[in-house]
Amino acid sequence: MRTDTAPAFRLEDYRPFPFAIETVRLRFVLDAASTLVAAAMTVRRTGDGPLVLDGEALDLETIAIDGNELAIGAYTQSDTTLSIDSVPDAFTLTTRVRISPEKNTALSGLYVSGGRLCTQCEAAGFRRITYWPDRPDVMSRFSVRLEADKSRYPILLSNGTPGETGELEAGRHFAEWDDPHPKPSYLFALCAGDYDVYQDTFTTRSGQSIGLAIHVDKGDADRAAYAMDALKRSMRWDEDVFGREYDLGVFNIVAVRDFNFGAMENKGLNIFNSAYVLADEATATDMDFEAIESIVAHEYFHNWTGNRITCRDWFQLCLKEGLTVFRDQSFMADMRSAAVQRIGDVLALRARQFREDAGPLAHPVRPESFVEINNFYTATVYEKGAEVIGMLRTLVGPEGYDTGVQLYFDRHDGQACTIEDWLACFEEACETDLSQFKLWYQQAGTPVVTVETSFNDGVYRLDLKQEVPPTPDRAEKAAMVLPLAFGLLDTDGHEMLPTQVHALTDTAETLTFDLGAEPVLSMLRGFYAPVILRLDQTDRDRLTLLAHDTDPFARWEAGRALAKDRLMRAVTDGRDFDTGWLDAVATLARDETADPAFRALALALPSEDDLAGSLHVANVVPDPDAIYAVRRRAQLAMAERLGDDLARLRGACAVPGPYDPKAEDAGKRSFGAAILRLGTLLDGGAAARAAYDRADNMTDRMAAFTCLLESGDPDVAAQFEDQWRHDRLVMDKWFMAQVAHAAPREAVDTVERLMAHADFDAANPNRFRSVIGGLTAGNPAGFHDASGRGYDLLARVLLELDRSNPQTAARMSTAFETWRRYDADRQDLMRGALDRMAQGAASRDLTEMVARMLA
Ligand code: TRP
Ligand code: ZN
Repeated sequence: MRTDTAPAFRLEDYRPFPFAIETVRLRFVLDAASTLVAAAMTVRRTGDGPLVLDGEALDLETIAIDGNELAIGAYTQSDTTLSIDSVPDAFTLTTRVRISPEKNTALSGLYVSGGRLCTQCEAAGFRRITYWPDRPDVMSRFSVRLEADKSRYPILLSNGTPGETGELEAGRHFAEWDDPHPKPSYLFALCAGDYDVYQDTFTTRSGQSIGLAIHVDKGDADRAAYAMDALKRSMRWDEDVFGREYDLGVFNIVAVRDFNFGAMENKGLNIFNSAYVLADEATATDMDFEAIESIVAHEYFHNWTGNRITCRDWFQLCLKEGLTVFRDQSFMADMRSAAVQRIGDVLALRARQFREDAGPLAHPVRPESFVEINNFYTATVYEKGAEVIGMLRTLVGPEGYDTGVQLYFDRHDGQACTIEDWLACFEEACETDLSQFKLWYQQAGTPVVTVETSFNDGVYRLDLKQEVPPTPDRAEKAAMVLPLAFGLLDTDGHEMLPTQVHALTDTAETLTFDLGAEPVLSMLRGFYAPVILRLDQTDRDRLTLLAHDTDPFARWEAGRALAKDRLMRAVTDGRDFDTGWLDAVATLARDETADPAFRALALALPSEDDLAGSLHVANVVPDPDAIYAVRRRAQLAMAERLGDDLARLRGACAVPGPYDPKAEDAGKRSFGAAILRLGTLLDGGAAARAAYDRADNMTDRMAAFTCLLESGDPDVAAQFEDQWRHDRLVMDKWFMAQVAHAAPREAVDTVERLMAHADFDAANPNRFRSVIGGLTAGNPAGFHDASGRGYDLLARVLLELDRSNPQTAARMSTAFETWRRYDADRQDLMRGALDRMAQGAASRDLTEMVARMLA
């Protein structure tokens, strides 16, 4: 157990750093076992106090001011800092430290992945490379010299623009890099190794030619083509939509096998989890292509929202992340179907962020305190942060939004900013008061909007109420501004009132309309506000909306509300599924005029976790086994209702021609997969077997593979493994699918069996997430097995991982964040597992997470 309780950082304690470091020269003598880092920084006093630098796991060899080595007593070191009490007002500080990349298993700082060297510095990894004020408001001009063995590390990369290169003695060589843009240390990066390089160029609208290069493992170059295409489209889009051009002569991407996150926006040198770079039709699914497109865009867009304008401190993380997610979502909506994109974004928001906001880990979009910042790269900061930007745009209008954003770019370029700076741009540009809007950054919890309708004497009345639930950070909440979009249909489905946006600002408000007849209310169009809607609607109204609403999100939502209602009633009263609902679902499935991607989304039932959360909110203790069984029963009822149509529908959505990851084809494939899944419940896997044997791309292959796993095909897992054992990204899918598609009773055994597999590697986050996340997220009924075996297993593997990789251990511990939803026995078992983790946790990361979940 950790005996020292790590201190919390608080937003209100922010103080500027009392020195400026205008330039820094870094020299790396690279070696996997022992790397020498020499730093020379030009320091100038700007405030009062000692010079305190951050540093962690560094072996200090020398330290000097203006060339004079400091005597031992002239500075003090702790585990995490180096302080010098008295320094001149302006001086050069030089340090030499040693670090060991190959011993760095945390994947933060400089580490080895696949025999190559790479870095991850956000949020606090640079202090594991050298002594430095490792905070985002200290921005400096970096120039870097890398030296390494030439045969082992022929390619040497860092931020900015390449400079001199040359040979050194003993088979070594060097390369220099210079970044003209001052940046905070978290954007520093270096990579060294032998890569295959996929190259291209991009000409900016002002005529600059940019060299683009994606560095991948040997033999993987062809698999970088899609990422490159996505990069070029992102660069063009940021010019067209935001007027933002790229600002260096080269843009490099490096793909690494071992990475704690999706990717990282280091200036001019983005580093990616290889799962989000490499794709071709044989090895990647449509979903992989889509993820690559959005993550490449996300990291590229950070060049302006994050790098040119960065965060003053880590409490402001949403300033770059929420805005950049909003930008990547807008990009994806432009590249693909905006309606399908929006539904997908809302599904993800509810699955991850609403869940977080309803539990012990709830926090404001801008947190006010943290122990370990890595624990705050959350769905709330990212996804809710993006919704907040979307609401701002709705409230000030698209033109006002554009003016405000341009003012932000003009005014704050080169600065480290706050949410206040951001909002001030819109207050000025749009001459509006955003003080109530700012609550979206300050109040955690998902607002609940209750809508009551009545129709009397030709007056249609909407009574709107809002309530923000209490969360761990605070109990009392003020009314927020909620931009609610709605429209009215007549009972034949014709629009009577097109979309209106009403900004609800009070706790309760009433709207009235003079109408000839009672309308059907289409509420929360586009899901413009991230709220929980309480609205009792009749089946008839919902069916009208599902069939006719002009807003695709609201159409889908009506179908979802029907399904959720049916499933929840089936869980609570064992009720059978009515033909009215099944007919509506079947009609939609057969509707050849509708977008197949939309039909696939409309066929998908609410997830087990979604149902568990909704039951909990309705004061019903969710039973994971019953939820699992009811979903299966509903799928079977849908399959039986569609019957012979299933074969015809599958034929109708076959995609002609060679594989193309484009949205239109992907939509057809996802609808085809949904139909295949239903058919498997009737034919025992015959069609899936044929589809598996015939598949000429990974999307179809995975769809058939998971159907066969569920139908209990005895050979398919071995067959898949024989074909793909050489490909680690495909094998991640193999590992995950077997756990996620195991019968719940067998899920934990499957995890144990796969953890004993020769290719299981807990040190690789992708592989670890495949197997363990396959259980916690992919097989909830298996994870929540009444024996508690799932909980024990998770606690055990996380405690073990915590010793080597605290960030990933802490992130995966959120599987327990819903523990208070469940019955007393399961609660006891989960609390026991959390207690054991609290006792055994070695890191600040996991300790903080567990403490918050138990609080
Ligand atoms: N800034 C990165 C992104 O949003 C996130 C990130 C990459 C990260 N690596 C990390 C966050 C490591 C925490 C720790 O694209
Ligand atoms: Zn980001």
